[in-house]
Amino acid sequence: MLRTNGLLPSSGDIKLQAENLAAQLKPDSLVEDISADHGVVSFTVNRKLFVQKMLEPFGKQGDEKFGLNSELFNNLKRGTTLVEYSSPNIAKKFHAGHLRSTIIGNFIANLKQSLGYNVIRMNYLGDWGMQFGLLGAGFGQFGCQERLKQNPLQHLFEVSLHICVKTDELFYVCVLQVYVQMNKEAEHNENLKHAAQDFFRQLEQQECQAVSLWQQFREITVNEYQQVYKRLGIHFDIYSGESCHLDQAQKVVQQLQSQGLLKTSERGTGVVDLSPDGDMSSVCTVLRSNGTTLYITRDLAAAIDRKLTYHFDEMIYVTDKSQSNHFQQLFQILLAMGHSWAERCQHVPFGLVQGMKTRTGEVVFLEDVLDEARARMLDNMSQSKTTKEMDDPEDTAEKVGISALIVQDFKGPLQSDYKFDWDRMLQAQGDTGVFLQYTHTRLCSYPLIISHVVSIFAPHSEKRKKKDLRFVCSYDEVLYQSAQDLQPKHLVNFLLKLCHLIAFAHRQLPVKGSPQDVAQARLRLFNGACSVLANGMRILGITPVDKM
Ligand code: ARG
Repeated sequence: MLRTNGLLPSSGDIKLQAENLAAQLKPDSLVEDISADHGVVSFTVNRKLFVQKMLEPFGKQGDEKFGLNSELFNNLKRGTTLVEYSSPNIAKKFHAGHLRSTIIGNFIANLKQSLGYNVIRMNYLGDWGMQFGLLGAGFGQFGCQERLKQNPLQHLFEVSLHICVKTDELFYVCVLQVYVQMNKEAEHNENLKHAAQDFFRQLEQQECQAVSLWQQFREITVNEYQQVYKRLGIHFDIYSGESCHLDQAQKVVQQLQSQGLLKTSERGTGVVDLSPDGDMSSVCTVLRSNGTTLYITRDLAAAIDRKLTYHFDEMIYVTDKSQSNHFQQLFQILLAMGHSWAERCQHVPFGLVQGMKTRTGEVVFLEDVLDEARARMLDNMSQSKTTKEMDDPEDTAEKVGISALIVQDFKGPLQSDYKFDWDRMLQAQGDTGVFLQYTHTRLCSYPLIISHVVSIFAPHSEKRKKKDLRFVCSYDEVLYQSAQDLQPKHLVNFLLKLCHLIAFAHRQLPVKGSPQDVAQARLRLFNGACSVLANGMRILGITPVDKM
């Protein structure tokens, strides 16, 4: 970009400046030629050297460091990053939002980790609240320990259905709404309401029987979730939850009080004044009038405790955008309490998924979505010859199905809502996860070049190949961009474009039948593209398959 001192120069000026600049710069062994044309200065890089440099790291397939040692990353402040994601609510449904949080958080953690950060992966369960009162009370009436052991989530779900039936209403209600309905029912049905309140009171007072039932529900649900996380290739270093910070939340309230930050509202609740003028026009409630704490109070306690325990340098929360305000308030209160590290806490919000349905109707469990993705993929694959030769086609279908879900989710800006579309996401030729996997399998079918000598290079006429190579080179820039704004779209779109270029290269740059040196260089190119693709896919949370 030419400097203009704020005034718009005429096109003649720009042309002249560009020519002057080009004339002053001297070509060297790396830059062969510098020229100016219509106000644009172009640099022609020594192609042979460029290609050599470019292909050097591609020693072998699976080279995991490609692009990651770039100078671009020198200025990153690597340290400990705590990423909190997934965070479903126990005894409530796991919805599309939790699936999004799970895969987005995993992407952020993978990205940071591959760039050399120390990453802590945390799941913060919604494991406290009135829903346990309802479930506990309902289980007392309709539950069966035997069934709970055999098919835990299903049974908890049946219990909640019973609660609906028992309250004479709405068996037809969309099953997704069951817990919501339970809450509504409880409002109308005094008996149930009292039983639920009573159970929750027992819990808060740590009464043995209630606590042990609650613990059982929690364990069961976590075990079930872990099965699903395993299918998604996701793990957590820590399972925390709201229930872990109940006492600390009370201490936070005391601290707020001693710092003069706690005010009493007209309704008798404890609030923190967040209005710029201190006139209580915008407040955040941290204490109910009956003395119990809220979601935000537990989050304050959790954040402070995490800082003390894990000494993170930054913390990232991944939830849907309806919680943006909650996190802004959380960070604001932490700062007001003197925790300057809250400056380095960040909320990554995402939009809604519309129309996530399976063949049998609305989604009840996340597992249903994964099962459906696998079944549909298996259907699609059954037409192909290679499927019959596979050892475990189900496993491949599972991995490819999950890639389809992930790419569909990551293509646009995270903040946007999108429409869930099975047919579109599973297309083999569109911009889909299936296309990424398909390209990867094709690249895997080339033999591997393991030589480290990069002296053999193809004739100059291979223009298209040069273009491919240049594109692969921007991998580090794409990772850098994603690390800046934590948006996976840069990486997804880079990989999709790479796959289109590879499809072109398959046609234009045959290996078979080419002179040996040309064939070797092309193979090296395909091997390299394969590593970049596989590495990028892994960062996205996709397991590349070798055959499909
Ligand atoms: N369990 C919450 C929900 O499902 C998400 C938790 C987000 N994390 C947090 N620290 N508040 O809405």
